[in-house]
Amino acid sequence: MAVTTSKPLDAALLRADFPVFEHPVRGKPLAYLDSASSTQKPRQVLDALRTFYETSYANVHRGVYDLAERSTAAFEGAREKARAYVNAPSAREMIFTRSTTEALNLVAYAWGLDNLGPGDVVVITELEHHANFVPWQFVAQRTGASFRHIPIDDLGELQLDALDELAASGRVKVVANNLVSNTLGTINPVEKLAAWAHEQGAIMVVDAAQAAPHRAVDVQALGCDFLAFSSHKLCGPTGVGALWGRAELLEAMSPFNLGGEMIRSVSLEKTTWNELPYKFEAGTPAIAEAVGFGAAIDYVSAIGPDAIAAHEHELVAYAMERLAEVPGLRVFGPPADRRTGIVSFDLEGIHPHDVAQVLDFEGIAVRAGHHCTQPLMTRLGVVATTRASFYLYSLPEEIDRLIEGLHKVRKVLT
Ligand SMILES: Cc1ncc(COP(=O)(O)O)c(C=O)c1O
Repeated sequence: MAVTTSKPLDAALLRADFPVFEHPVRGKPLAYLDSASSTQKPRQVLDALRTFYETSYANVHRGVYDLAERSTAAFEGAREKARAYVNAPSAREMIFTRSTTEALNLVAYAWGLDNLGPGDVVVITELEHHANFVPWQFVAQRTGASFRHIPIDDLGELQLDALDELAASGRVKVVANNLVSNTLGTINPVEKLAAWAHEQGAIMVVDAAQAAPHRAVDVQALGCDFLAFSSHKLCGPTGVGALWGRAELLEAMSPFNLGGEMIRSVSLEKTTWNELPYKFEAGTPAIAEAVGFGAAIDYVSAIGPDAIAAHEHELVAYAMERLAEVPGLRVFGPPADRRTGIVSFDLEGIHPHDVAQVLDFEGIAVRAGHHCTQPLMTRLGVVATTRASFYLYSLPEEIDRLIEGLHKVRKVLT
């Protein structure tokens, strides 16, 4: 980690960094409880974007003029921040992508198509986001590999006693899992899965979209082979994300996208690939967005992922306690000490979309739907849930407003 501090954070103070909270929604102060979907942006990131465009913007890696050199330095500086943030051994191994989704597709296509075949097994989990599920399902079908899952128990935690049976079902070549579930907040045992994957001769692919913004993530301590996360869930701009991969795997892989920037030489007969990480960065990248991503990493690092995790833990414990007061409300997932600041629930007899709509009239933003986890919805026996999710700027008062709002929902809709 670049900077980790155990000092508790002051969410009320940090909130002043976020201009969005200065604007009422439906005539009320905004209670933004949808940070798992995307986070709000602090002035420090907005200023970094504006300053970059105003003073240092040009295309990267091409021009020999001063502005292009400064732009390239800012872009590569952001890569170094992303490297340090997840303790990756080398910036050569940090690839800028459009998002977590694109990063996971990159691995599934560029590694999976060349390394999977009949008799091989791809292992995902029942609580995977579609971004780490659908690409693997598709590539397994394309290559003839089988597609198996680790089931969850009734608390939404992985049942690792299923691993032996999975190992017996064929050559396990890929294990793909999110470090934190976006629907339940479950913190998954990725270190154990990575060790098991390597015992099978498989690679471990980690979706850290919901982990990297909320807690310390160290790719070397996790022992994984690939790890993906998105800027927009970490106070940064949309349109940029990062994929870390082990150099030896990345070097052996074919490129994912082809075109400019990712080549070493092109002739009518043959094209050769650029060195890492550029081999996987075809075309003009999201330059200013990457610089903004770097500013967001600085912002979050200065607060400290440990302090963010502790703050969210307090909020989620409080939320679960208060949600238990609402009649007919069922919370899904594990206890507060085994989850991050995410809580999904069902209000008996009321569709989550209706819950979210009534809460919106109170200025409370929550997410309703399947959260891109339809297999998990099937396992939970619901089509959708309502989800409240917290971040470094979330306040206990917003949870109080959520509870009041839910009582109102019941009054209006039952
Ligand atoms: C666990 C998880 N994985 C992947 C994604 C996809 O992230 P993105 O939309 O930034 O590609 C999300 C987004 O919600 C997520 O929560």
